[in-house]
Amino acid sequence: MEKKIPTHVAIIMDGNGRWATQQGKERYEGHIEGVVSVRACIKAARRNGVRYLTLYAFSTENWGRPQEEVEALMQLFCRSVTNETPELVKEGVRVRFIGRRDRFSEEVRERLLHIEQSTAEGDKLTLVLAFDYSSRDEIMRAARQLAERVAKGELQSGDITEQHISESLYTADIPDPDFIIRTSGECRLSNFLLWQASYAEMYFPQTLWPDFREEEFDKAMEVYAERDRRYGVL
Ligand code: IPE
Ligand code: IPE
Ligand code: MG
Repeated sequence: MEKKIPTHVAIIMDGNGRWATQQGKERYEGHIEGVVSVRACIKAARRNGVRYLTLYAFSTENWGRPQEEVEALMQLFCRSVTNETPELVKEGVRVRFIGRRDRFSEEVRERLLHIEQSTAEGDKLTLVLAFDYSSRDEIMRAARQLAERVAKGELQSGDITEQHISESLYTADIPDPDFIIRTSGECRLSNFLLWQASYAEMYFPQTLWPDFREEEFDKAMEVYAERDRRYGVL
């Protein structure tokens, strides 16, 4: 039998701070090392034939961290995606951002748009970066959009289907994740893809994100291949 490969892998990249503490370093150094894992996982995803890779980079709740850390994360995020863009284009990776955009500076907003535009032709892998993202916020926005359509008379409330909701999310044209990985041993979703995760397989390795490299990704693919997905039927 052919090995099962998830079309869409979504990762909650957790454990940067603990990794840094274990090494006697500052938390931001853990985030910097985490970028190396991002690169490794993009490469491994492509090599394994994964078509969509979603990475949870910054949650709407993460704004509540000390200002110093938030600023370090913003800078690191912008710098990394900008620096990586030529390589991503070369490798056929299309970048998409999901999440709010209204809380970023004009400069950051333009940069995100530019990265999306310059990688738009990529057809090997879609890299979805969840940045100022939370699932409840996303669902609330979808509800508002649909309510507006009902108010305008474009749609009857009784005609709203699951598909209408899916199509009103940031992930409208992205298939649901098949496999959700959260590193660092925490077993929770922390407001990530709650609607889209309805039948996703989950995996919670102990490995801290900065240690999650190609080998770990390959191991995760082995774990997925062994899963039996039943979708409520026999
Ligand atoms: C994940 O690592 C990165 C982000 C949430 C941005 P953490 O910063 O949450 O690391 P821990 O969980 O404190 O170890
Ligand atoms: C989830 O990790 C968010 C990201 C990985 C971006 P957190 O470290 O913020 O989540 P909690 O606080 O442990 O639930
Ligand atoms: Mg954490």
